[in-house]
Amino acid sequence: MAPRLPADRLRDALLERLRALEAQGASRREAIQDLFPNTQLDDEVLESVTAALLSGTNLLLIGPPGSGKTSLAKDIWNLYPKDALVVEDCPVQDDPFSLISTEFAARHPACPACRTRHGAVSYKEIGDFDAARVDAKKVPVKVARLREGYGFARLQGSPEVFPDYLTGAINLVKLEEIGDPESPLVLEPGKVMQANRGVFLVDEVGKLPRGTQNVLLQALQENIVTPSKSRETFPASFVAVATSNLADLEAIEEPLLGRFTSVYVPFNADHAKNRLIVDLALRGARLTTPTLVREAAVLLIERWRKVSGESPELGEVGSNRTMIDVLRRAEAHALLRGAALVAGEDFLRGAQEAMVGRVRGRSGEGYLENREAVEAFLAKQSPKALADAATDYWCGFFVEVLKEDRSEGDRTARELKDAAAQPKLVAEALAGTSGLAKLRRFAEYVDAREAAGASPEVKRDRFSMVLKTFEATGTFDAPKTPAAPAKK
Ligand SMILES: Nc1ncnc2c1ncn2[C@@H]1O[C@H](COP(=O)(O)OP(=O)(O)O)[C@@H](O)[C@H]1O
Ligand SMILES: [Mg+2]
Ligand SMILES: [Zn+2]
Repeated sequence: MAPRLPADRLRDALLERLRALEAQGASRREAIQDLFPNTQLDDEVLESVTAALLSGTNLLLIGPPGSGKTSLAKDIWNLYPKDALVVEDCPVQDDPFSLISTEFAARHPACPACRTRHGAVSYKEIGDFDAARVDAKKVPVKVARLREGYGFARLQGSPEVFPDYLTGAINLVKLEEIGDPESPLVLEPGKVMQANRGVFLVDEVGKLPRGTQNVLLQALQENIVTPSKSRETFPASFVAVATSNLADLEAIEEPLLGRFTSVYVPFNADHAKNRLIVDLALRGARLTTPTLVREAAVLLIERWRKVSGESPELGEVGSNRTMIDVLRRAEAHALLRGAALVAGEDFLRGAQEAMVGRVRGRSGEGYLENREAVEAFLAKQSPKALADAATDYWCGFFVEVLKEDRSEGDRTARELKDAAAQPKLVAEALAGTSGLAKLRRFAEYVDAREAAGASPEVKRDRFSMVLKTFEATGTFDAPKTPAAPAKK
């Protein structure tokens, strides 16, 4: 048996998962996306991330706020194998090989506690530790479950995070009381020690002060850390996954930057992935949000990203967080109305609140200016996003069901128009008793396209809502031949 470093363990786990997914019939792209179930990103981005992890490097995720960097980092931790062979009574879950393999111990020394307890040296002679003299059979080992604080640590970068927070410290008062420098009561393990054997997630690494960045650098270079007020070093061997906004990139110290492979994580170009982000976020929501409304929210944010500049004060307005929040707010408005379903009007208000609520400004004046820009955008573009989503919906039906038969499209449109004004026709179509065959056919399409398992009441409201949105947004008056073919 050979010791395996965190990067190797992550790589093996990744490969194993990939193979398993491919064996189940997933394509390479699908398999790679499935590795990161909570983070929908463009295939190329996830491919770069996966390749970086397979190459065994530390990873720096760079991108605009709200693109999914932290979410991706958490998915990487979830991939990491949780069971690890450790020295039984070690405060930092040492690898037993650190005690018995001279070669491994040179790169990954055991903690002082393990060296004095199992390494045949006293605390005074700790510098004389020699793995060759340790009897492997006498080292107590166990399989431990890695978790936060034990093989996993997470740090939110900010200027207030001082080096001690990463290095940990020896509490000198307690040391006097207890006498044993390795007692868990005396040693307060810092974040890098807690990450030993696993993953260290450093959010917004560029916001860390220089001294704190240096602690991280030492750990990445030498796999060790020295707690403050201590003369001994502790092991700190882990895969680091860090994130940074573009704005903070220049604040990352050059040598530290050199320890990472960076991958740029932009907002998705792939529309289908953006739709999945909102589907993911709306799982377990209280009310049903029809696909028409979901689509509108995604189109609106995608359009904002196209037309908005690089202004950092408006950086959050187009984030994935905002895209999700548009729909959460829309749901809140539907709840306020006492509705069972989120409708177009809720979307318009949700978009307004979520996007305007994320406007920032350096000054009061700047804020007002930015706010005006967002409001001007919304006045024109949110009704348009809803209309485009409705057109897309209708086109989907026209292409998939009607096979682009224009006269059939005209006849269907007429029946739908009538039904939009007469709730009774809708009820009949849903009950399957309607004499209007085209209306019935469209009702089936809506049913198949929307979430399954809706109550009859929700089904009725949903169908009416689609028809009303068509009517309100002029979908029926749009050119009969769809401009863009519907996506499959
Ligand atoms: N690409 C994405 N896929 C799935 N969810 C996302 C994505 N991007 C953002 N989110 C959601 O939006 C929120 C903010 O994302 P986060 O990962 O914290 O962004 P970042 O760290 O890039 O600022 C999270 O709740 C996350 O679930
Ligand atoms: Mg983040
Ligand atoms: Zn130890």
